[in-house]
Parts: sequence; structure tokens; C-alpha cells
Amino acid sequence: MTADNQPRKILVTNALPYANGSIHMGHLLGYIQADIWVRAMRSMGHDVIYVCADDAHGTAIMLRAEANGVSPEEQIKGVQVEHERDFAGFGVSFDHYDSTHSDTNRRLSSEIYLANKHAGNISIRPVSQLFDPEKQMFLSDRFIKGTCPKCQADDQYGDACEKCGTTYNATELLNPRSTLSGATPVEKSSDHYFFNLPNFTEFLQQWTRDEGRLPVSIANKLDEWFDAGLADWDISRDAPYFGFKIPETDDKYFYVWVDAPIGYMASFENYIKAKRPELDFNDYWRADSTAEVYHFIGKDIVYFHALFWPAMLKGANYRTPTSLFVNGFLTVNGEKMSKSRGTFIKAETYLKHLNPEYLRYYFASKLSDKVEDSDLNLDDFVAKVNSDLVGKVVNIASRCAKFINTQFDNKLSDTCAEPELLQKFIDAGERITEHYENREFSTAIREIMALADLANQYIDEKKPWAVAKENPNSTEVQDICSVGLNLFHKIMVYLSPVLPTLASQSQAFLNVENFNFDARFEILTHSINEFTPLMQRIDPKKVQAMVDDSKENLQPASTNKENKKESKKVENTENTPFISIDDFAKVQMKVAKVLECNKVEGADKLLQFTLDVGEEQTRNVFSGIAKFYQPEELQGKTVICVTNLAPRKMKFGVSEGMILSAEKDGQLAVVLLPDSMVAGATLA
Ligand code: MSP
Ligand code: ZN
Repeated sequence: MTADNQPRKILVTNALPYANGSIHMGHLLGYIQADIWVRAMRSMGHDVIYVCADDAHGTAIMLRAEANGVSPEEQIKGVQVEHERDFAGFGVSFDHYDSTHSDTNRRLSSEIYLANKHAGNISIRPVSQLFDPEKQMFLSDRFIKGTCPKCQADDQYGDACEKCGTTYNATELLNPRSTLSGATPVEKSSDHYFFNLPNFTEFLQQWTRDEGRLPVSIANKLDEWFDAGLADWDISRDAPYFGFKIPETDDKYFYVWVDAPIGYMASFENYIKAKRPELDFNDYWRADSTAEVYHFIGKDIVYFHALFWPAMLKGANYRTPTSLFVNGFLTVNGEKMSKSRGTFIKAETYLKHLNPEYLRYYFASKLSDKVEDSDLNLDDFVAKVNSDLVGKVVNIASRCAKFINTQFDNKLSDTCAEPELLQKFIDAGERITEHYENREFSTAIREIMALADLANQYIDEKKPWAVAKENPNSTEVQDICSVGLNLFHKIMVYLSPVLPTLASQSQAFLNVENFNFDARFEILTHSINEFTPLMQRIDPKKVQAMVDDSKENLQPASTNKENKKESKKVENTENTPFISIDDFAKVQMKVAKVLECNKVEGADKLLQFTLDVGEEQTRNVFSGIAKFYQPEELQGKTVICVTNLAPRKMKFGVSEGMILSAEKDGQLAVVLLPDSMVAGATLA
């Protein structure tokens, strides 16, 4: 509640999924995270509006439609139906789901663009690019391949060589060809429209450092971009392009990332028009709005949301988001999801085999407010769900219900026999709701499971089955089981944002009206309903079947890359043996500053380093990287040093550590950290 005890007005969005691929486990991490938060905030009585949409524009979607032999409009319609079905399947409770290809979004995009144009934030200049003469279209780097100008490796993309790591312009590739037609591209110039991001440098430097705006780790990362200097952002694409035409042009389209975030506003506007006509769009979006706006996004799209998006809004005199909530990436069984291993699991495939609430619970038990990657380890998933949900939570109800149902005609005791224990469960609610609000879900889950342990301990001690054996109708049995069910009630109220279906089944069984967080204060003394089994254990065979099923439905790789070259990801298919977390924990790595770096007389491979590793300690380290660096290139740099490597005596002195670097195919680069990192900080 606000200070005057009014519900807070909150608008929540999730990143808009591209309309050219299916929802998979990785996506679901962010959607389930947001949904849990939304449900928790609603449970606290706030007015939360939760919207999303498909991100429908761009070259990738246009080409996908072409490959499928349908129009882009048909393509995006079909995918939207699937996406909405999948989200509903996982209980994601959007108030409204739209598409960025809507009239409202077209109008808002034009309006925001024109406002920026009139404010002097748009400029036009020619850009020379490779053009596919057969397809008659300009090619982004991702659609050009050729020979690396540096190392001559063949089959390299137009932006960087995956063999030697060199970055270059597509026009520098040797023997370039279009991956779309195979034709040799020609260089061609056309006018491009730019959003003048540098106009917003000061504003953004402040904005990204505002309290609560961004995770601090992200704000630090953005500083690197500020240090490098912001650049104008190319917001136009030439025809053919599936998107919105830029106003006052004949043949220029908005780059998909212009109208995508504006899609948040458009989806909200369409929602209130259709379902909440009493609400005013401007009340949420005008510059001085007091409503709260939160965007849940993955870490790969921070750049767009923390720089371009607030700048566009500011330039058009709209409010900016209150906070960005950023989730890390999901791996499955410790690795990037892989189609060959069957760990690229689509939402649809999961739902064929398993209960969605298992996954919601598992994610909740892993998520915090940190931008950390999470792993869906399938063995751990089975073990945790079976032990916590089935073994602990549901077990409380099943141990107590049958006595109340059969011996006491469903009636709970009139008074609670253990007021102190019950009070403990009620009091825990304050901390638990706070953890939810702070997106500390893993902490909330830990507290709730500690309560479940207490409840089971209580039943173990009181042994209602033993008492009942002597006297089935003794009120002692009724009292014990009534306490047990009251404890179960509190636990399920606390778990309801995570497990909405289990919560509503429990609510029906307990025969109560209200299941919001404030229901925790109620002491149940009424008649309940017949108990029916609430949740089955996960059968590991079903998990295996899901993995096998995921292996079968191999799909051609999506061309999604085009839209996100800022976050190119390469699948790791290397077959390295696993090490345990304990093995890894043995390695101590620290942030180190290079105080001195020198050549070593008589050893032309070596460089000698004096490193500041914090706490006024220095280390002498020899590193065989002289072939790749001049000493002055590393002087003053911030590096990573393994500080607990056994000292090694060499001809030139003792080496007291190792500097981390990355090597591939004879090329090497030292891992450099931002200079803002302090010497001595431990890496984990
Ligand atoms: N269309 C853009 C977002 C536009 S928002 C104005 C996009 N779409 S996406 O389909 O690629 O991703 C949707 C969301 O899922 C993003 O938040 C992205 O970070 C997230 N994830 C996609 N793969 C993921 C994992 N493997 N793990 C965690 N999140 C992942 O980006
Ligand atoms: Zn190369």
C-alpha cells in the first residue's frame, strides 16, 4: 500500500518474444519470474496490470514467413496463438497479450518518432552496405559470409571471425556471398535515419544510477559504454522489411527495436480500451506519472532497455520505467540448451509430459534479485519437487485430512490447540511477503519450506494415527489434525503466487473464500471438503520421455541472430568432463591491477608482471604471452589472477600466480576487467 494506504498502481511487462520461434525453457524463466511477482503484488492488494505482446517485426520474421510459404501477417498470427497457449499452460497471468503489429503501436511509434524528430534527436545520412542483387535487399552482417581478411578462415559472418576473433566490416570480407541467395553482394549506399543517442548521455548517466532503477552490476556494465562514448543509433531499414513505415518517408521502415518497446505502451493502451475503460493511458505514461512501470527482461537485451528506450521516451516527453528487473540466462544440466542433447525443451513439449507447477516451483527456488544465470538440472529438479512439494507440503494435508473427513464429519476444531505455533506461521508472513516484493524468491521458498518442516515435525511428534488407534473419535485427534491443516493453509497461502493451481485446489479443499496473503491471519474452524490427492510425484521416466521428445523435434535453426547481434551466442559443443562445484571452489581468483609489466631478458616468450592483488599485497607472475602483447599494452590494466596456484620456481624467479587469458586457434587475449573493479575482489 502507499503511505495513505491506497493500492499502488503498477504496470508490469515481460520482454516481448519474437514471433518466429516457440517458447522454450529459457524464455519461461523470465515469464515465470514476472508472473510470480505480479501474483504476489496482487495478493498484497495492489492494482497490477500485466501485459505482453509478440514482437512481430524484422527481417528474421519476414524470412521465416517466406520459408514457411505464408505472408508475414499469417506467420505472426499463427505464432501468437501458440505463444498465448504456452503462456496460459504455465499459468502466466497476463491481463492482455497483444502484437507489436497493431494500429495502436503504429500510431504510438510514429508519434514518439516525430516528437523526437521535432526535438532535434533524429538525423539522416547515407550508409554504404552490401546489397543482394538477386534478392534486391540490403544484407545485415548475419546474412553475409565470406573469407576472414585476417586469418583467411572460410565461412565467416559479416561482422566478426569466429576463428580468430577479428571484427571487421562486412565489406572487408574476401569472396563475400549472400547466405540468402548465394549471390555476390554489391556495395550500395542509401539514406539511413539515426536517433542521436549522444544527446542523452548526461540524462542516461544519471538515470541508470538512480536508486533502484537497475541492478548495480548492470549499471557498472553500462559505464563501459558511457566510457566508450554513446553513438548514434541507426533506426531505419530499407524495403523489403516487415515493419512500420517511418512517417514522412516513402520507403524507410523502423528497425524492429524501435517499435518493440513501444509495444509495451500499445499493449497497455489496447488493454485499457478493451477491459478497463475507466483508466487513463496518460495517467500511467505522462512525464510526471506516479504509477509504477516495471519491465522484466533478460540480460541480453539490457542495452536496448537501459539506453535507447529511456532516451526515446524522454525525447518524446513520456515517463521512463521505474525499474528494469533483469534475469540471467538459463542453462539445462549445466550447459547451454542443446537440440542434440534434448535439452532445448519447448514449453509445448514440457506440457505434454509434466505439470507446469513443478517448473514454477523449481524456478522460484532458484531466483533472486541478482542477475545470475540459473541451471535447470533435471535430476535436481525431480529430487527437489518430490521432496519439497510432495514429500513436505502436500504430505501435511494428506496426513491430517482423512481423520477430519472420516471421523469428524469434515469439521475442524472450534479453537486452535497450538496458538503459539500458529502465530509463528502467521508472523513469518511478513518476512515472506517482503521477500516476494524484493524478488528474493529463493529466500521466500526457503522460509516456507522451513515452516513445512516445522508442521511435519509437529505431526510426527503428536502422531494422530497412534492416538486414533486407541480412540478414533478423541477430540485430541481432531485438534492435532486441525492444527496441521491450519499450518498447511498458511503454507499454501504463501506458496500461492508460485503454485496457483495447487493453491486453488487447496483453497477448494479447505473451503475458504479468500486466499490472498491477508488470509494468513484467519484461523480455520469451519467444515472443510473431501481431500483428493493434490500433486503426484515426478516420475523420472516422464522427464526422460520429455528429453527424448525434445531430441526428436529438431527444427531448422532460427534466424533470430539477425535481431540481436549484440549478443551473439555460440553453442558450446565441447565435450569437457564435469567438475564438481567443490572442485571449482578450490580455485581462488582475484581481481588484480597490473602495476608493472616487463619483457624478460633471455626468455622471449615471457612477460613478467607485478600485480596488486589487494590488501597491499603484490604478486610476481610470469606469463608466456609475450608473442601477443607489448608490455605497455597491459600496464595499468585490470586482470584476473589465480592466486592459490602453487608457486613455481623458474629460471628468472618465482611465479606466484596465473593471469587468465583466452585462447583459440593460436590467438590469445588476456581477460580484461573494467577498471572500476577493485583489486583483491574475489571472483566466484
Ligand atoms: N523480442 C525481443 C524482446 C523485445 S522487448 C521490447 C527478444 N525476444 S526473445 O524471444 O529472443 O526473448 C524473449 C525473452 O526471453 C528475453 O527477455 C530474453 O532475454 C529471454 N530469454 C531467451 N532465452 C533465454 C534463456 N536461455 N534464459 C533466460 N532468458 C532467455 O529478445
Ligand atoms: Zn579470422
